[in-house]
Amino acid sequence: MKIGIPKEIKPAERRVAATPAGVKAMVDHGHQVLVQAGAGAGSGFGDDQFAGAGARLLDQAAEVWAEAEMILKVKEPIAPEFDYMRPGQVLFTYLHLAANRELTDRLLAKEIIGVAYETVQLADGTLPLLAPMSEVAGRLSVQVGAHCLEYPSGGMGILLSGVSGVRPARVTVIGGGVAGLAAAVVAVGMKARVSILDVNAARLRYIEDLLGDRLVTVMSNPANIEAECLKSHLVIGSVLIPGAKAPKLISRELVRGMIPGSAIVDIAVDQGGCAETTRPTTHAKPTYVEESVVHYAVTNMPGAVPRTSTIALTNVTLAYALAMASKGWRRAMAEDPALAKGLNLHRGELVCPPVAEAFGLACQAINL
Ligand SMILES: NC(=O)c1ccc[n+]([C@@H]2O[C@H](COP(=O)([O-])OP(=O)(O)OC[C@H]3O[C@@H](n4cnc5c(N)ncnc54)[C@H](O)[C@@H]3O)[C@@H](O)[C@H]2O)c1
Repeated sequence: MKIGIPKEIKPAERRVAATPAGVKAMVDHGHQVLVQAGAGAGSGFGDDQFAGAGARLLDQAAEVWAEAEMILKVKEPIAPEFDYMRPGQVLFTYLHLAANRELTDRLLAKEIIGVAYETVQLADGTLPLLAPMSEVAGRLSVQVGAHCLEYPSGGMGILLSGVSGVRPARVTVIGGGVAGLAAAVVAVGMKARVSILDVNAARLRYIEDLLGDRLVTVMSNPANIEAECLKSHLVIGSVLIPGAKAPKLISRELVRGMIPGSAIVDIAVDQGGCAETTRPTTHAKPTYVEESVVHYAVTNMPGAVPRTSTIALTNVTLAYALAMASKGWRRAMAEDPALAKGLNLHRGELVCPPVAEAFGLACQAINL
């Protein structure tokens, strides 16, 4: 199959849909890979590396889209890309259609086969193509949180790890899923005193088994959240209720009561945030101080580390891309129900129930 990898053009997006190693795997499986020149630059991958992996470099996005049977991307297409699409072309990328009616209508009109990373779902309900970005955000949250606690950032001037003879900072992680556990792992690695809260007792038991000698697990309820936040220097919000806005677990009043110069990193900001004082920020100006607490609430945290994020993304998307390229999307989905859940759009029809529900539209069943 001819697989196309255009350069991402959404503002501030520096990831690319495949690494040179990923391209090599596709070429080794007998596929032709067309990469737009410069596509990997933001992630530190040069054209020469893609060429060395066996890709054919093309100057213009239009050429890549025109030749490829399947397009691999990172972000949803934006205006200049719509004109390149043609009926029956497979587009495998993050789409997030439920949040964007206009995009949904544009892509339906293009009659493409739209396969969304974020709805590929394993039998246990987990989302394998979202997880690596949560892992990146979780690990990064402690790094940026430590920075927020430094005096020049508006923080109280406490070193997360402490030093000999001086206590380290206290860190509370609310939500012990993929992002929360990743945060906890880094925080204990940096010698902070860590507590982690979740409403899921089985998840707390798992974390206790994993790290119980290095952190404290606490059942999440309003009283425990308040007690932990009031004594913490860094609070990390990483809750998720799938498909819903994040619950407001940290009230403004509670923020007011926190240690002055402490910090909140609200990873869940992309779902509205779990602190009442959270408002979305960007990498250009990631923090603000409210109620004497430094807030970090960047909605696309993985964007700060495009190289790691690109490699992490390729690690999980490659097998699905290869399956569709080698077997055709229809057979690949017939053989893998997890991938089948990724199918959102089929030649002008909506085929993903949650997306159809979000707009009150009919959802067509598709016979794979
Ligand atoms: N800002 C960013 O750049 C960025 C990047 C990746 C993910 N995220 C966001 O991070 C959040 C976490 O993602 P994830 O992949 O770790 O989700 P996940 O489903 O793996 O984990 C969420 C956890 O929250 C727990 N939870 C739900 N309600 C709770 C409550 N009231 N108190 C405590 N815990 C509660 C769940 O039991 C679950 O363990 C999501 O909102 C996601 O969108 C943000």
